[in-house]
Amino acid sequence: MNVLWYMCAPDGAYPWTAQGSRKVDYGYFRQLALAYDQLGYTGALFATGAHDVWVLAASLLPITERLKLLIAIHPGLVPVTLLGKMAATLQDFSRGRVMINVVSGDAKMLGAYGMNLPHDERYIMADEYLSVWHRLMAGESVTHEGKYVSVTGAKLALPAGSTIAPPPLWFGGSSDAAIDIAARHVDTYLSWGETPEQMRHKVTAVAAAAARVGRELSYGVRLYVVVRETDAEAWAAVQWLYDRMDETAIVANQRFVGGTDSVGQQRMSALHGGIKVADPRALEVAPNIWSGIGLVRPGPGTAIVGSPDTVIRTLQAYQAAGVETFILSGMPLLEEAYRFGETVLPRLPVAQPVKDTKPFTWSTLFDRDLSSNPVP
Ligand SMILES: Cc1cc2nc3c(=O)[nH]c(=O)nc-3n(C[C@H](O)[C@H](O)[C@H](O)COP(=O)(O)O)c2cc1C
Repeated sequence: MNVLWYMCAPDGAYPWTAQGSRKVDYGYFRQLALAYDQLGYTGALFATGAHDVWVLAASLLPITERLKLLIAIHPGLVPVTLLGKMAATLQDFSRGRVMINVVSGDAKMLGAYGMNLPHDERYIMADEYLSVWHRLMAGESVTHEGKYVSVTGAKLALPAGSTIAPPPLWFGGSSDAAIDIAARHVDTYLSWGETPEQMRHKVTAVAAAAARVGRELSYGVRLYVVVRETDAEAWAAVQWLYDRMDETAIVANQRFVGGTDSVGQQRMSALHGGIKVADPRALEVAPNIWSGIGLVRPGPGTAIVGSPDTVIRTLQAYQAAGVETFILSGMPLLEEAYRFGETVLPRLPVAQPVKDTKPFTWSTLFDRDLSSNPVP
C-alpha cells in the first residue's frame, strides 16, 4: 500500500474562508515536507495551485530523505523536451524520488495559460505528447513532426533511464478519453474519492481498456480523512466543519465548478448535489464516506470519517475494490498529517516504513536507572 499526503495551498482548519485559512509560505511548506518525510508517508502530491510545483518540489528536496515527489503536469503546457529535462534533472538529483501526475485540467483554468483545446482534443494532444515523452525517457534521439508536437533531434543529455529509472507516470481523469490515454501511457490511475463501489467499476473499466493494449495499471484514490479517537468524535468534527460552511462559500464554489468540462468534477458534484442539507450525515454516500467537503471545495470533496479502526476498515474496502494507493489529506495539513501519521499510518502495510517508529514516553524516563544518569 502507498500512502501519500497532500502538498498544496490553501490550507487551514476550514480554508474556504479567510478566517479558517493560514498563511502558506516556504517556511510552512518546509514544515510539511519534514513532517511527511519523518512520519513515513510514501510521498507527497504536489498539485497545481498557487505555487509552481517544480520550484516547490525542488526547493524541498534537500530537507527530505525518502519522500517521493508526485508532481502534477499538464501535457502541452511546457514543451515536452523541456519538461523531460526538468524531470530527468530532479530524478537524478533526488536519486529516483520523482513521480509525474499527468492531469488535463479544465478548459477555464487552461485558457489562462494559452491552452484552448476542447476537452477530448486535449487528450488527443496528450497522446502525442506522452508518446514523445516515453521516447525521450528511453534515451532516444527524437525527430517528430505531428499535429501538436514538433521536435527535431530532441534528446535528453540526462536520460533518466540510464542509471535511474524514468519517473513513473500517474494520472487523474475520469472521462472516456482520459481512460483511453491512461490505459496506453501511464502506470497508476488515480480518481478523486468516489465510493468503493464506484471505484470498483472504474478499476474494472480502466483495467479492461489497459488489457486491450496488453498493459496492467495500479490504482489510487484521493480522499480527505477525518480521524478521531472514536467514530462519534469524528462525526462531531464533521459537524464542526459543516457548521462553518456558509451559503456564500457554497454558492461561490458551486458557481466555480458549474459548467466545468471535467467529468471527474461532475462525478464529484453528483455526490452532494450542491445543496447543504440539515444533517451532514445525509451526505454519507457510503459507509464512513462523507461528500460534504465538495460543497465548498472544487476537485476532491469526499472524506473517510471515523476512528482509526473505522478508517482502516474503509481503506480496506477500497483495497478490495482494487485500490493500492491512497492520496490523503486533512485540515489543516500539518496537524492532520501528524494525527493520521500517528494513529493510522503505523498500522498500515506501507511500502516504506520509517526506520524507527518506537515512541519515547514518560515511562521511558521513569524506567531509567537514575543513579547512573540522574535527571536534572
Ligand atoms: C488525484 C487527482 C489529482 C488531480 N490533480 C490535479 C492538478 O493538480 N491540477 C489540475 O489541473 N487537475 C488535477 N486533477 C484533475 C484532472 O485534471 C481532471 O480530473 C481531469 O483533467 C478532467 O478531465 P476528465 O473530464 O477526464 O475527468 C486531478 C485529478 C485527480 C483524480
